[in-house]
Order: sequence, then structure tokens, then C-alpha cells
Amino acid sequence: MAKSHQYDVLIIGSGAAGLTLALNLDRNTRVAVLSKGQMKDGSTWLAQGGIAAVLDDSDTEQAHVEDTLNAGVYLSHEDAVRFTVEHGRESIDWLIDQGVPFTREADDSDYHLTKEGGHSHRRIIHAADATGKAVLRTLIQRAEEAGNIDLFEHYVAVDLITRSKLRLADNCCVGAYALNIKSGHVEAFKAPQVVLATGGASKVYLYTSNPDGASGDGIAMAWRAGCRVANLEFNQFHPTCLYHPQAKSFLVTEAVRGEGGKLLLPDGSRFMDRFDPRGELAPRDIVARAIDHEMKRLGADCLFLDISHKPEEFIRNHFPTIYKRCMKYGIDITREPIPVVPAAHYTCGGVITDDLARTDVKGLYAIGETAFTGLHGANRLASNSLLECVVYARSAASHIQQQLQNKIELPEIPCWDESQVTDSDEDVIISHNWGELRQFMWDYVGIVRTSKRLQRAKHRIELLQQEISEYYSNYKISCDLLELRNLAVVADLIVRSAMLRQESRGLHYTLDFPDAGPEALDTILTPVNFQWQNHQAGPDSRRS
Ligand code: FAD
Ligand code: SIN
Repeated sequence: MAKSHQYDVLIIGSGAAGLTLALNLDRNTRVAVLSKGQMKDGSTWLAQGGIAAVLDDSDTEQAHVEDTLNAGVYLSHEDAVRFTVEHGRESIDWLIDQGVPFTREADDSDYHLTKEGGHSHRRIIHAADATGKAVLRTLIQRAEEAGNIDLFEHYVAVDLITRSKLRLADNCCVGAYALNIKSGHVEAFKAPQVVLATGGASKVYLYTSNPDGASGDGIAMAWRAGCRVANLEFNQFHPTCLYHPQAKSFLVTEAVRGEGGKLLLPDGSRFMDRFDPRGELAPRDIVARAIDHEMKRLGADCLFLDISHKPEEFIRNHFPTIYKRCMKYGIDITREPIPVVPAAHYTCGGVITDDLARTDVKGLYAIGETAFTGLHGANRLASNSLLECVVYARSAASHIQQQLQNKIELPEIPCWDESQVTDSDEDVIISHNWGELRQFMWDYVGIVRTSKRLQRAKHRIELLQQEISEYYSNYKISCDLLELRNLAVVADLIVRSAMLRQESRGLHYTLDFPDAGPEALDTILTPVNFQWQNHQAGPDSRRS
């Protein structure tokens, strides 16, 4: 008999967003946190640069708001931007109270703040070049100590359980099925409040800075449960990932450019000034596109990032992770430039939420990279995402706590039915389709798009989805199959969103419509079986 569990709150995802939410609930609230790998397996662990917030007297919230709107090419929702920025300092204070060891100034007078592209001030608080590790290590420790939080590692959420899927009236979320990787069985988690904190979907691209699990599971599950999604055409490509045959997706933080790093062509000359007066510190979409352009123009495999003009001690103190990792591949960053290429990095769109992180489905919340809050617009400002994780997780926690005061009767949930499926003898279908999907997404839906390439990608996704659906119906599920199924859903949503955006704005650049349109509109997709329409809409209509 498959196990089932019951909690007050089920949180799917153990990154900065999921654990912040868990730790902001009362200690008498019973909470389950699921991670499909170890607790640390999401993007949070890899975050390098830091967290943006107004922490210095010479900086202002208005300046942070303007920088965010400007980087987002005026598609960000100003209310969401203000909400995030205004809750910046208290969110950082909360992290400091939890014990996060942020880097201090050399004279220990205050916290050291660094700078990244698109920021008009130094406002990035960080823990050397491994901010994510410092944050997550602390939050995991606090969660382990909390007493009311059960942490489930190696549990992959398969799908949300809603009352409508149980053929009951209204579409409330009442839990989720999750595959216990160790036992191989699917278990039911019942809860009146369910939170998606599953991170982004950059694994849909062949080259990415993200960990393997960034397969957009939360976005796909929410979509299947009836939630609208927005602006999924905006995939952020980070300009500088290490280019080396053995270095799998290793990021070289933008803080290297913030501290004076220069981008160079293979002949050693600088080029960014030709693309933007802010040079190396232009917003990410501009820098990634400039690198892509120069690589294609020169037929180069990579370009270079050089910080070697700075004193060796400064480099080793500020960028110890990057220094060590590059050394491992024989690159001494104190003496020579780093070979770099752009790679898929961040999913700016996601599941539509409000400032309490509520989705379209009652009892279902989405936070962190899975969510679309309206903050990032057409291009996320560097280091705004960890801030968004903490701000919205705290906001959701207070709303969930209030909701828990109303007693909600949970329905009977049937066990997962495996009676009609068998063990697969053809796992090659999964690995082949993974590779194929990620390759054509990179080639056809990457930094520079055209309508024809999008159409080609759409056609291939349709074929893949048929094959995956047949496979899913006939064979026992595995983590790889679940991820592939979700990646195909997200790829489809990305391509459909990209086809609707007939202009170039921020991260979405198409040769067929190279200019920005007259109005900044969100791309909103709604699941057809919930009888909504796909359309573009201005900020006011996004929560219609
Ligand atoms: P994640 O931290 O990605 O966590 C997702 C969680 O969901 C994981 O626990 C995973 O196991 C779990 N999960 C996923 N699917 C399932 C499922 N089906 N079932 C169960 N569990 C599931 N942002 C900044 O602001 N500053 C930075 O300096 C910065 N640097 C970055 C560097 C790198 C290399 C990368 C990749 C990203 C960086 N970002 C940075 C972006 C930022 O780190 C992420 O957006 C943020 O950490 C996302 O947090 P999250 O909690 O939403 O998700
Ligand atoms: C980086 O350190 O360059 C990544 C920062 C971010 O993604 O916000």
C-alpha cells in the first residue's frame, strides 16, 4: 500500500524561496518541504553575485525601482517592483538574523556591497562569490532545527491534486503526488495550502548555468492544474559562463565586471562600448546579445573576460570560488583572461501570482523563480531574484498562516494507480528526446529568434509531446521521464509566448520584428481546458 502524508502546508522545493516560506510559518504549523534531490540541489546553492537591496545611505529605493524598470524595458509592473524594493532591507535583516555570513568591509565597518550590470549604485550584499551556499546552508540548518518542518529529500512531485481532478466542485488545490525515488513508489501528500517553489526552467536549453533539476516542473504542474502563465518568452542568458570542455555550466559572476572586469575579443580588444554606453555593465540582455553577435561575426568559440589587471590578493579574496575552479582547468585568472560564452540562466516569466503569491487555483501559491510576480519585465536586473524569493516567500507565509485559521475539510485522495503500466525497456527514448529538445531550443529559440525558427521548434515540440504522452501512459514513471514531460510543456509555452510577441523587447529579440512595439504588454497563456484565451495584455488586466 502506497504511503500518504498529511500536513498543514506542503512546499515543493527547498531553495531560498521554499525554505524562507517554511521558516516564516508559526512553529505549530506542520510543514513538509520536498526536494527532488538533496536539499541543496537547486539554483540557490549556485548563486554567486549576491542579493540586491537598498542598504547604503547614498542609495535610494527610487533608484533601485528605476534600475529595475529600466533593465526590464518598462514591462515590469511598477507595483510589484515597488513592493519588492520596499521590502528589501527587512528581507536582508531577516537573513542576517537567521545567521547568513555576508561579507564585511575590510575594516569591518559594515557589509561590503558590490555592483552588477544595470545597477546605478553598489547595492549587492554577498558572501564572497558564493552567496547562494551561505544563504542555503543557513536556511537548511534553521529548518532542521525548527521541529515543525519535515524535509523530504529525493521526492519528485509528479502533479498537483486539485478538487476538480477528483471530480469535485471548484478547483482548490489539496496536495500533490510525489515519486519517492528511493522506494520507486508514488506517495500522496495532502495539505490545504500548497506552495510551488520549484525554481526555473533553463534546462530547456542545451547550455545553461542551472543545475540539472531546473526543468520547470512547477510551471508545468501549475499549467496542468489550471493556472495561467505569463511572459515565458523571456529567458535570460547570462553573458559569462566558463568556456572549457570539462566545465559543466560554471558561471563567472557579473560582479567580476562590477569590480572592473573587461570583456575582450580574441585579439584582446574591448568591444562593449560599440553596443552600449554602459559598456560591460549594460543590462544582461544587451551584453549577452553583443557577445553572441561578436562570436558569430568572428566565428569564435568564445570571448574573454579579464580581471587580471586587479591585484592578485583582491581577486583571490573577492572571487575565491571562481579562482579555484578556473585554476582546476589551468586558467590563472590573476594573470590571464577567462574564456566565456553565454548560457541560459533565468526564467523571467512563470506562474501568474499576486503580491501574496496566490495563483489562479485556490490554496496554491507560487514563489521564487517559478512565479511571475511582474518584477522582472523583459529582462531581470542582476541579483533581484534572490530578493524576490525572500520578499514573496515572507508575504505568502503571512497569508497562508491566516488561511490556516479556517478549517478546511480535505477530500479522500486515491492512491496512485500503477496497475496499467509496465517497466520500460526503451529508456533511450527519454535520453534521445531530452537531447533533441534542448538542442533545437538552443538553435531555434535562443538569443536571436525568427518566426520561421519558432515555427520549426513548435512543430518538433508537437511531435515530441505525442511521443512523451504515449510513453507516460504506458510505462512506470522515473525522474527523467517526469522532467522530460515537464520540459516539453515548458518548451511549448515558451515558443507559443515567443510567437505571440511580435516585437523585440529585452530578452526576446527577433529578426522579423527588430523594434519594440508601441505598448509594453504581457504575454498571458491560459490552459484551454479551463476555457481562457491566449493573449497579450497590459499590467492592469493580468489578474483578470
Ligand atoms: P531553486 O533554488 O532552484 O530551488 C528549486 C527547488 O525545487 C530545489 O529544491 C529542487 O530540488 C526542487 N524541485 C524542483 N522540481 C521539483 C519537483 N518536481 N519535486 C520536488 N522538488 C522539486 N540570483 C540572484 O539574485 N543573485 C545571484 O547572485 C544569482 N546567481 C546565480 C548563479 C547561478 C549559477 C544560477 C543558476 C542562478 C543565480 N541566480 C542568482 C538566480 C537565483 O539563484 C535563482 O533564481 C533562485 O535561487 C531560485 O530560487 P528558488 O528557491 O526559486 O529555486
Ligand atoms: C551573477 O552573479 O552574475 C548572477 C547574478 C544573478 O543572476 O542575479
